[in-house]
Amino acid sequence: MKRYSIHAYESRFGEPVARLLAEARRERRRLFPMLPSGLDDPSTAGRILERARPGVVALAEDGSLCGFLFAELRDDLIWGPSLVSDPDGWALAPGIDARVLARLYGTVFGRVSEHRVHVSAWDRTALDAWFHLGFGLEQAYAVARLDDLEAEAPPVADVTIRRAKPGDEDILGGLSPLIATMQAGAPVWAGAPAQYLTEIREGFRGLATDAEAIVLLALRGERAVGYQAWFPMEAHPIDGPFTNAVELSVGATVPGERGTGVGRLLTAHGVSEARKAGFAWCFTDWRTTNPLSSSFWPARGFQPFLYRLTRRLSPLALAER
Ligand SMILES: CC(C)(COP(=O)(O)OP(=O)(O)OC[C@H]1O[C@@H](n2cnc3c(N)ncnc32)[C@H](O)[C@@H]1OP(=O)(O)O)[C@@H](O)C(=O)NCCC(=O)NCCS
Repeated sequence: MKRYSIHAYESRFGEPVARLLAEARRERRRLFPMLPSGLDDPSTAGRILERARPGVVALAEDGSLCGFLFAELRDDLIWGPSLVSDPDGWALAPGIDARVLARLYGTVFGRVSEHRVHVSAWDRTALDAWFHLGFGLEQAYAVARLDDLEAEAPPVADVTIRRAKPGDEDILGGLSPLIATMQAGAPVWAGAPAQYLTEIREGFRGLATDAEAIVLLALRGERAVGYQAWFPMEAHPIDGPFTNAVELSVGATVPGERGTGVGRLLTAHGVSEARKAGFAWCFTDWRTTNPLSSSFWPARGFQPFLYRLTRRLSPLALAER
């Protein structure tokens, strides 16, 4: 392995870091041309770097850049405090030993209970390097061309699909905990704090009057048995901005109706509506530990292009000072 040294990021490293970032973004597109075109020239990369957050660079003996890593502290209801490196938050130069990551990681990340990084789904070498640092898969981010997805699906007896409308607030509020309650159980064991459930209930009620979103309800008679919400997407952290993409953001079927074709029917309706609205691409994401969503979305035609990896520090490590 080449000898290298680690330095705190400073503006004098801005140019080589922006160049390496642009290169990494171009490589991403070369390996995964499915992504809608974004901007990957060094000036875009330079703008990404304008966001202040702690970072480090690894330099070879001749001063050339081997890699960089940025991470920032975030705090929210579900995750609590976590240190996160975004999709554009790290890169290694071609041919650089992935073990350089261990030094970059150990310098930037600290004693915070959750560590998160984003890694291209096809980059087995990088995934392997992060797995060796104690990380595991948590979230898959996927994309599909709407033209490649089915816009018609077999009917489900006595189930109709329609757009949500003003007056559907209670129906939507009632459907709001479906994903969270499923994912609070085995084998996802995600948190679903009461305050979070209250917040999403309010958000779901608002979908009834959201003029921008495509909100679909599946009804058996008067009873709602499933829903999906699709939102226009102006940017994606990995490759925005763009104008022709939509995000299939949330969707669920009530437990007793799963596996009967409701989700497939909702998705086909959504595809048809999104195509009519002029969208060409659709993004979605799922917890890799959720066995229902992680088999359902790929079966519909979504291909993962990015993973979020997580490492949780033990209480012992956190107590250590
Ligand atoms: C993921 C989810 C939305 C799928 O909805 P669903 O209504 O169960 O989906 P469907 O019944 O259309 O399809 C589920 C599977 O059953 C199959 N299926 C559909 N009708 C069937 C039938 N009559 N007989 C046998 N299998 C059938 C489908 O082909 C599908 O398998 P595939 O994905 O391998 O193609 C649902 O499982 C759910 O609500 N999960 C909990 C919440 C959640 O995880 N939401 C997603 C968050 S990202």
